[in-house]
Amino acid sequence: MELPKHPHHSLFIFVFGLVLVFPSALSWKDAVTHVHQFVIQEASVKRLCKTQHVMTVNGMYPGPTLEIKNGDTLSVKVINKGKYNVTIHWHGVRQMRTGWADGPEFVTQCPIRPGGSYTYRFTVRGQEGTLWWHAHSSWLRATVYGALLIQPREGTNFPFAKPDRQSTLLLGEWWNANPVDVVREATRTGAAPNISDAYTINGQPGDLYNCSTQGFFFSISSGETNLLRVVNSAMNQPLFFTIANHKFTVVGADASYVKPFTTSVLMLGPGQTTDVLISGDQPAGRYYMAARAYQSAQNAPFDNTTTTAILEYKSAACSSDPIMPRLPAFNDTPTVTAFSTSFRSRERALVPAQIDESLFFTVGLGLNNCPPNFNGTRFTASMNNVSFSLPSNFSLLQAHIQGIRGVFTSDFPAAPPRVFDYTGNVSRSLWQPATGTKLYRLKYGSRVQVVLQDTSIVTPENHPIHLHGYDFYIIAEGFGNYNPKTDSSKFNLVDPPLRNTAAVPVGGWAVIRFVADNPGVWLMHCHLDVHITWGLAMAFLVEDGVGKLEAIEPPPEDLPICS
Ligand code: C2O
Repeated sequence: MELPKHPHHSLFIFVFGLVLVFPSALSWKDAVTHVHQFVIQEASVKRLCKTQHVMTVNGMYPGPTLEIKNGDTLSVKVINKGKYNVTIHWHGVRQMRTGWADGPEFVTQCPIRPGGSYTYRFTVRGQEGTLWWHAHSSWLRATVYGALLIQPREGTNFPFAKPDRQSTLLLGEWWNANPVDVVREATRTGAAPNISDAYTINGQPGDLYNCSTQGFFFSISSGETNLLRVVNSAMNQPLFFTIANHKFTVVGADASYVKPFTTSVLMLGPGQTTDVLISGDQPAGRYYMAARAYQSAQNAPFDNTTTTAILEYKSAACSSDPIMPRLPAFNDTPTVTAFSTSFRSRERALVPAQIDESLFFTVGLGLNNCPPNFNGTRFTASMNNVSFSLPSNFSLLQAHIQGIRGVFTSDFPAAPPRVFDYTGNVSRSLWQPATGTKLYRLKYGSRVQVVLQDTSIVTPENHPIHLHGYDFYIIAEGFGNYNPKTDSSKFNLVDPPLRNTAAVPVGGWAVIRFVADNPGVWLMHCHLDVHITWGLAMAFLVEDGVGKLEAIEPPPEDLPICS
């Protein structure tokens, strides 16, 4: 089937959304429940002259945009008519007490089998801006993803100049192959998976690729201020994003508002979102919006192509050639640092000043000698030298709630088992992690600090570390090895940004803080899918507190089990 070429969120909601809206008993005034149906199904999509059969939601690539208000409830019935197991994750949604709806396969549920279904039901509260949803099973999220827009709650307003128009730009990654085959082949050989053939904006590579002319258009009138919601939904690549001759005013990230700042370039790690205002203050014309790789790993192959869309002034002559922006060099880490250290929370930050749990996690790659492949080694990755392996017989959350033994252990280390020069020249004897399904147990309400420390094993790299079930404050970041004596003086406990994904600097560290007020089992992982495939993950087990309101809800009746 042919797919809509210019996805626009309001169209999606009305045409495909099957939206039934009815009042609910929530205490928040006027909160509503939005009911949707997501049918996982194969569709033919032609890109770069070739037709691929890819998994989609409702035949759409990218999938439908969901739009709600802060305080509303979503009820999404996922029906799997595809040939693979699937789950859907609501990236960045806090899922307060509704961990069963979070979605990561074998963490909070067993997969939805072909022919099966499961209804994700959860309320979004205290979050405004842009989040997204994606498959959380194998590499299906390459084509199974879409935006989740959260408007200000009833009776409140967007806290900046009201935009005249808005649009969402989902940055993606495309293979001239089935992404599930790409990861299976990599797992078989132990080598790095093939790099992608294109990046995309709302599913279209744009003008700079062979056999690809149809890019996404976004229009603006002179004098207007428009809101752009940029999401990095690529699989494995942090991306720079810019628009020729225009500046951005950043106003939000990961569904929290920030103190506005201006920049001409954004960098988003996979998983991150950034909301920006742009003004129609340039001569009427056509301007390229463009994204390409930020590649911090040395000597690793990467897709060095550029995807484009077009910003078009209403009054522009339609024949005019778009102006191309200058993008930062692929390895321009100083630009990334200048950007990521500009974020401040807009509202008073509720960052805990005292902490109960002081954790130090190394994040990085490794090489495994066994099982040997034709080269003798396989790529792997770990946190604190544990390469995370998912169970296959029960989900971690089910094992925790039902007290099933033998599925996981609670001994994830609070610090690396060996202290070494993390970002120096690391001895080969430290390159091979152990494998395990280790969780770190947190008491309800504990105040947690985690230092995320990159390692130079194999190569240092900027890792987008994502925590499920929580937003966290990023109170500091830096390069080299974190030094608790000197680096704590850099902590911002006043207005640090609240995020769900931290881009940990290449060869450096980031310090995050959160209060463990959401009981359940919560995955923390690198959002480069190649790294989660290799085990760059761990999970927190947050215990119930006192009484019903501090406990996870009982599992829904249709929760898929592994059987
Ligand atoms: Cu956006 Cu565990 O993922």
